[in-house]
Amino acid sequence: MADSHAKMTQATPQEIIISVLAGLFAPLLAIFLIVMLVLSIQDKHLPDTTSEAAQKATLDRIKPFAHLVALDANAPKVEKSGQEVFDAVCTTCHTPGALGAPKFGNKGDWGPRISQGYETLIKHALEGIRQMPPRGGDGDLSDTEVARAVAYMADAAGAKFKAPEAAAPAAAAASTAKPDPSKGKAVYEANCAVCHATGVAGAPKMGDKAAWSPRVSQGYATLYSHALNGIRGMPAKGGNAGLSEADLANAVGFLMTQGGGKL
Ligand code: HEC
Ligand code: HEC
Repeated sequence: MADSHAKMTQATPQEIIISVLAGLFAPLLAIFLIVMLVLSIQDKHLPDTTSEAAQKATLDRIKPFAHLVALDANAPKVEKSGQEVFDAVCTTCHTPGALGAPKFGNKGDWGPRISQGYETLIKHALEGIRQMPPRGGDGDLSDTEVARAVAYMADAAGAKFKAPEAAAPAAAAASTAKPDPSKGKAVYEANCAVCHATGVAGAPKMGDKAAWSPRVSQGYATLYSHALNGIRGMPAKGGNAGLSEADLANAVGFLMTQGGGKL
């Protein structure tokens, strides 16, 4: 009796190993299942591009670029008034008279400058002169906007310049060649169609009156100047530096008239 009792309670080394292994099986299985569960959850979440959060994150990431394209495609910029340009850019120097800038409203400062004439002042404001940076340092300002700001400042100091409504006088001066749209088609096809046929990078499509009408309203001289010098996504001379000004003018005339404009 004592013997068999001892036999029942005393385990052999094999029995101990077996029971230990059997005891470990359950936790090991549990760990295995948990790992599988975590992996499967991760798997489900990794390629998640459809959830709202994922789409928002993607939109945020591409926003700067998308914004740029949207700007180019849909909204040729609305040109600011002279006062708006002044308040945004020129005031920095022209209100305190920084760096020797003629002070806003100061007839003594402006008198001799005004006597140079509106065209010269515009030219200096566009190109810069001494400490005065080109376009007041804001390369995004159009010729028209700069010309308006010049008139705004000069008129506040006693001048009677008439700010341009649409086309800048400086741009008009830049266009020498008289456009002939009938000669522009071939130039267009060779140089401009690559972007303007399909609307690459927000280029206004050839013949698309809706896309061209706000541009056409800037006037031929401004369009020509933008095609000559480039503007935003539009490279100077359409990227062909060897293009003659006469050919370029003809192509601009072609695009303009196809877009519903009159020369
Ligand atoms: C960083 C400072 C600065 C900013 C910004 C600035 N200007 Fe000036 N501007 C000057 C200085 C300095 C002069 C005087 C240059 C000289 O004659 O030596 C000047 C002169 C001028 C003149 C007179 C040029 C002449 O021929 O006598 C005009 C016109 C002018 N600025 C227009 C503008 C317009 C328009 C803007 C805004 C779009 C602007 N400026 C923004 C510093 C500035
Ligand atoms: C690499 C592409 C590309 C080529 C090539 C190109 N353009 Fe453009 N063009 C653009 C884009 C983009 C715009 C719109 C720019 C903006 O307003 O943001 C544009 C705008 C214009 C405008 C309107 C400017 C304004 O003030 O609204 C004219 C005019 C123009 N292009 C003429 C031409 C002519 C002429 C050629 C060929 C000699 C040409 N483009 C070739 C991309 C191109």
